[in-house]
Amino acid sequence: MDSKQRVHMNQGHGETSYARNSSIQSAQQNRMKPLIEAAIVGLCSNPNTLLSGKMAIADLGCSSGPNALALVSIAVEATHNHFLRFQQPPPEVCVLLNDLPDNDFNMVVKRLVVLQQTNEPVCVTGVVPGSFYERLFPSGSLHLVCSSSSLQWLSKAPEDLVANHICAYDIDEHVRRERLPVVAAAYGRQFSKDFTRFLKLRAKELVPEGQMVLSLVGRRSDDLATENSHVWRTAAQILGAMASEGMIDKAKLDSFYIPVYGPSAKELRVIIEEEGSFSITEMQAHDYASGMDRALLTPNRIANTLRAIFEPIIVQHFGEIMDEFVRTGEKHLNLQRSSRVEGTKHPIVMVLVSLTKA
Ligand SMILES: C[S@@+](CC[C@H](N)C(=O)[O-])C[C@H]1O[C@@H](n2cnc3c(N)ncnc32)[C@H](O)[C@@H]1O
Repeated sequence: MDSKQRVHMNQGHGETSYARNSSIQSAQQNRMKPLIEAAIVGLCSNPNTLLSGKMAIADLGCSSGPNALALVSIAVEATHNHFLRFQQPPPEVCVLLNDLPDNDFNMVVKRLVVLQQTNEPVCVTGVVPGSFYERLFPSGSLHLVCSSSSLQWLSKAPEDLVANHICAYDIDEHVRRERLPVVAAAYGRQFSKDFTRFLKLRAKELVPEGQMVLSLVGRRSDDLATENSHVWRTAAQILGAMASEGMIDKAKLDSFYIPVYGPSAKELRVIIEEEGSFSITEMQAHDYASGMDRALLTPNRIANTLRAIFEPIIVQHFGEIMDEFVRTGEKHLNLQRSSRVEGTKHPIVMVLVSLTKA
């Protein structure tokens, strides 16, 4: 595997871009609205947090396209409404958007200018390229941090697997099952390390009693050894089917790691409590698919969403295979759909958590 995976969503506005294939994630962002509004009311009603009459809001892992500004827009509107209700002048608001340096920030910047021009309390906007597993902002400078569908991305593939050449996925089901506890535990350890670091860094950057509202893709089950509940399984199954049909080299598949891990809500709670910088105001786990427009969940839509998310790291490792990836993905998802038992709960959940800096 290439030593550094180039994580970013598909750029631009074309047919395969993240901008055109992120309605599923947009539906997940909508679930965060009440939590962001509650965090803003908490901040605005707390005389300690807005002492200076300024408020800084950041979205980490904003990506590109319409979703990039969705969370900060909810926060700005909630701030505006709060001060309007009490007929007080709003604070100066600074909106900052972060993603990795390879993210397509072009349209994001243009949309930020529109946000600034059309929202009275927004005074300053900016993009902050860099990893959210590193320091991004000055200490004590942020009031609210939001992030949607991003923190399941690890800083890197699990070191223990890469160093020991342990394959994350094998096309032989028996081998895969046998190895799953080792693979899942290595992913879990990497996540715990990364998320703990994320909490420590944000605790430095937030003001006292600052807030975070985060959502990430997670597992329903606390049992690590249930293959179905791993968030990278669909992409891995598609690549596995491609290796079985000779479209990609099996040896290449053996050295490929998707640097993504979905924790259960309980696992996330334990990490937050052990790290200790934040108290949990609210935690929710929603069935990934419930309440979502069924038209968003067709095999074609899901395969294209996976393409928009994983194309850069897949192409970096396997070369130009994405048209076959989507075709195989549709076939695989159609088969999966016809064999699904009616009424069974989706193994993937969206974990939402609202945190206050202790
Ligand atoms: C699935 S997208 C989610 C985008 C958007 N927040 C949404 O809800 O649609 C995940 C984003 O997280 C970004 N990301 C992954 N790891 C990151 C890191 N270490 N630091 C900053 N951004 C990261 C990716 O580049 C990508 O844009």
